[in-house]
Amino acid sequence: MPYETILVERRDRVTLVTLNRPQALNALNSQVLAELLDAFAAFDADPDQGCAVLTGSAKAFAAGADIKEMQAQGIADMYAADFFAGWDRFTRTRKPIIAAVAGFALGGGCELAMMCDFILAADTAKFGQPEVKLAVTPGMGGSQRLTRAVGKAKAMEMCLTGRMMSAEEAERAGLVSRIVSADDLVEEALKTAAMIASMAPLAVLANKEMVNAAFETGLGMGVQFERRLFHALFGTADQSEGMAAFVEKRAGVWTGK
Ligand code: CAA
Repeated sequence: MPYETILVERRDRVTLVTLNRPQALNALNSQVLAELLDAFAAFDADPDQGCAVLTGSAKAFAAGADIKEMQAQGIADMYAADFFAGWDRFTRTRKPIIAAVAGFALGGGCELAMMCDFILAADTAKFGQPEVKLAVTPGMGGSQRLTRAVGKAKAMEMCLTGRMMSAEEAERAGLVSRIVSADDLVEEALKTAAMIASMAPLAVLANKEMVNAAFETGLGMGVQFERRLFHALFGTADQSEGMAAFVEKRAGVWTGK
């Protein structure tokens, strides 16, 4: 499928996806969603790809869901289409996705960054859930994911006031894993992605799955889930190889089996 709103590049085992609607500050409309779903399904299905980076422009990762697309919709349209439900498919991507965020990540933009597995932020990044100013609320999971990431106090303040959080505040609050200079953002994200993509593929999938389970389950079930996945990896050739390589003081060579 040819893309008009995103750019997709493959760099060895890393897929770089760039949101590319500069005229609308990468606002997320139905076409962007469809193209992202297609691109990430292809990424997930490609055994030669190990990790992805999702980024935007220097000015905006994404300034939200497309307000102009939503403006004329009524409740019947929204409910019948189960508007935004398509984003659930994005979150079912099994391989890791790093959000590399510079500039505005607002509304759906912040929500999309939070759907990724972690966020690397440029020092220029600004995060916010300003939907209240449009007389609506987050609709792509922001009230839930932001609250889990930064706690109730900050999430509530941000949702109720629509104020933006700087990169520094976002890092202190645990929303982003690291801040890098805007000039280095994409290269740093690609370097991190390349490191992840060099690990044993099944171990990468299992690590992502179990950390995500922390959001869905209680502690006891989560620890049990972790242990069972840990056990399961002892059925893989890469586990034997990884531990043998350590003992023999050499690098592991992975088969993904
Ligand atoms: N939807 C549609 N178009 C958008 C947009 C959005 N979310 N954000 C920006 N644009 C468009 C603007 O309309 C403008 O287009 P025109 O040139 O045709 O007028 C263009 O992008 C450039 O934007 P600005 O001129 O506004 O740029 P700025 O630098 O002055 O301001 C900004 C930047 C502060 C990010 C401002 O654009 C803004 O406030 N955007 C909207 C942010 C927002 O409310 N996001 C939440 C959307 S609702 C949502 O996301 C629901 C959900 O939970 C999923």
